[in-house]
Amino acid sequence: MNVKEAYSYSVSFLGANGVDEADFKALTVVCHVAGIKNNEYHAHRDDFVITRQLADCLWKLKSGEPLQYVVGKWDFYESEFYVGEGVLIPRPETEELVELAVKQLKTVDAPVIIDLCSGSGCIGLSIAKAVPSSKVYCIEKSKDAFEYLKKNSDGIYNAILINDDIFNDIDIEQADLIISNPPYIKTDVLQTLQDEVKKEPVMALDGGTDGLDFYRVINDKWSKKLKPNGVLMLEIGEDQGKTIIDVLSDFNSVEVLKDMYGNDRMVVAKI
Ligand SMILES: C[S@@+](CC[C@H](N)C(=O)[O-])C[C@H]1O[C@@H](n2cnc3c(N)ncnc32)[C@H](O)[C@@H]1O
Repeated sequence: MNVKEAYSYSVSFLGANGVDEADFKALTVVCHVAGIKNNEYHAHRDDFVITRQLADCLWKLKSGEPLQYVVGKWDFYESEFYVGEGVLIPRPETEELVELAVKQLKTVDAPVIIDLCSGSGCIGLSIAKAVPSSKVYCIEKSKDAFEYLKKNSDGIYNAILINDDIFNDIDIEQADLIISNPPYIKTDVLQTLQDEVKKEPVMALDGGTDGLDFYRVINDKWSKKLKPNGVLMLEIGEDQGKTIIDVLSDFNSVEVLKDMYGNDRMVVAKI
């Protein structure tokens, strides 16, 4: 079967089995199996596809596995990150936080950054690559996610990986920037999430009863790890824009910014 036939077959298979976004998912798995990027499809329509590998991907999609886990990697900011069961899939909203951070860091000489709750490392490692003079500490508790963090950090010399719990006291130098996309979903909302999101680890999503547990520890403990002119940047849930201002009580200025969809999504705070 060639790439074009495989794509046509995959769209039909996924559509017939009620998988949403069948076109995009079919294109992505076919290109993955053919070893090409999605935008190279037309140039490679006649290439040969290994049908057994494609069938495996299609059955996983049919069973509800997220597309990103099926292909095992996903584009984020300027790189590709390995992902799979046990690690959160990087989201486009989070790229906006990275863009904001990189812009801010361009004005700082040899900045020190702490990325709390690093997951795949999409935030911390993207910053480490974009700002080569920086030193980036990436802290992640989950053993499974930490394995992806290690794999994704291959060749990035200015990232220091720490497998620990951010509720612990961690001996680390003061930073110019503390950045985090922590778990922020209320515990009782977890059950109402889409089936595909439920395949992602609970530890990456569960922010406690009111969704704010991690922001509290960041305010109470991690604010002390900021240099006097340091900046805190956070991703928040779209309904947390008002409450976050009260939670970050150790900060003098707290600005809430919107994402590309017009929802409250990012916080920039200064002591
Ligand atoms: C929302 S995910 C964000 C991952 C990544 N930063 C991103 O933006 O895609 C939160 C991450 O925090 C990790 N985590 C949960 N509790 C933690 C804790 N107490 N200490 C450190 N990391 C924790 C989870 O395993 C998960 O990888």
